[in-house]
Amino acid sequence: MPKITFYSQGLHPPHKISGEVPSGMSILDASEKLGILMRHDCGGFATCSTCRVFVHEGMRNLSAIDLDEENMLEEAKLPPPYRLSCQTKILGEATCPAEVVVVIDDDMDWSKGAFGFLSEIPESVRRIARIMVEKKARKSGLTAILPDFAFPTLEEVKKKLEEVSGSPALLAAFTKELYESQ
Ligand code: FES
Repeated sequence: MPKITFYSQGLHPPHKISGEVPSGMSILDASEKLGILMRHDCGGFATCSTCRVFVHEGMRNLSAIDLDEENMLEEAKLPPPYRLSCQTKILGEATCPAEVVVVIDDDMDWSKGAFGFLSEIPESVRRIARIMVEKKARKSGLTAILPDFAFPTLEEVKKKLEEVSGSPALLAAFTKELYESQ
């Protein structure tokens, strides 16, 4: 499987997380799988650029830039080797594992800011929470998902998670509730 390493800029010591991810996974999904919460305000539609990463190594192991990504990068004045993590897939075969190293701008890394709590909750629940928040935002016609604007807000998700996190049964019920609310 391809290997990806994330660095956050400007931290001492640097915040570094590596792991293997399935070939074809987007960099954004890979970050989430490894417990890093990157901003992605438009929900992965190539219309915001908040999911940008600076590709330090391994550009050849990434999918090609399509027109939507190219337009957004141009509009946001992000020259190569910047990529939009929501649009960029990590490629590589089992016989020829690829390696990619990316750097996240510090203010685009939610893991260390107000949303750090999300990296402590189980990945499965976090993914559902993310999908749910994004889906509801899209249904409401929002083009950007802002932490305190989406419904339910991440703050509401946090509160609920704090209530249920001590009990596997409550956590399971909450997970079901999230699924059903979609
Ligand atoms: S999440 Fe908005 S461009 Fe990637």
